[in-house]
Amino acid sequence: MKLQTLFEEYLLNHLPKSQSFHPIFEKALQEMLSAGGKRFRPLLLLSVVQSYESLLVKNALPVALGVELLHTYSLIHDDLPAMDDAFLRRGYPTLHTTYDEVTAILVGDALNTHSFNLIANAPLSSDVKIELIKLLSQDGGIDGMIIGQAIDCYFENQTLNLEQLEFLHIHKTAKLIAASLKMGAIICQLDEAIQKDLYSFGLDIGLLFQIQDDIIDETQTSQEAGKTTNNDASKNSFINLLGLNGAKKSANDLASKCEAQLNGFDDALQNHLKILLEKYLYRHL
Ligand code: IPE
Ligand code: IPE
Ligand code: MG
Ligand code: MG
Ligand code: MG
Repeated sequence: MKLQTLFEEYLLNHLPKSQSFHPIFEKALQEMLSAGGKRFRPLLLLSVVQSYESLLVKNALPVALGVELLHTYSLIHDDLPAMDDAFLRRGYPTLHTTYDEVTAILVGDALNTHSFNLIANAPLSSDVKIELIKLLSQDGGIDGMIIGQAIDCYFENQTLNLEQLEFLHIHKTAKLIAASLKMGAIICQLDEAIQKDLYSFGLDIGLLFQIQDDIIDETQTSQEAGKTTNNDASKNSFINLLGLNGAKKSANDLASKCEAQLNGFDDALQNHLKILLEKYLYRHL
């Protein structure tokens, strides 16, 4: 079975539950997860596992789901009025639009904490799970996604320089993507050297991913993107700093660098990652 189908089935069968007399909380908790999304981060993780220890893919599924939960929480909070104030996500109205801000904040909180619960309960050795939790809490946390989001929002309407903009994008987006690849390597207990190579490749892929996301904000309608676009006017984005052509050039340069790195990986890994990365490496935008 294709990894994407396997993951999607697993996700739908393991949606977080919240049984109480609250009339809508459980529905809200599951809504953005079942709404879809590319599942880029869990599929990166699973592709590494598939390439090195295909028998472990099953045991890695709860970890992959944990990563998707943490990412989904970050989107729900990112869309809140206090942050990006967006109305559409994954083709559906944002949670705070359908319900209210309190519900969206608490669903985000729940997905964040539950992601670590899933990893803690995965059928893997305790040593491996501690490494996974350390990495995800670091790159999804204070020195990762959170500081990136804090800088993104604090410096609205204040122009950062290119080095600062790269810091912002690497933290808000690339670190979680790099962590996803490395988590696959941790599950397979690969050597430090390959873990490091995958992580640094992930940082470049993640930066490329966010530059393309900035291009999407500029070039696609909300309907095409399935999320609110043309929403970055006050942001430090590659478009606002370098213009559309400058952003595309940065993306092309980074894509060439990533392709060269990818060609240095084992054949099985190259083949699995190429399927996922095709549209980023051989740029379509
Ligand atoms: C959007 O992430 C937010 C960014 C970090 C750019 P994705 O583009 O992966 O969103 P989904 O998961 O496919 O909805
Ligand atoms: C969000 O970046 C990064 C996150 C950590 C969620 P954006 O604000 O550019 O993501 P979109 O464009 O709303 O998906
Ligand atoms: Mg944002
Ligand atoms: Mg946003
Ligand atoms: Mg964006």
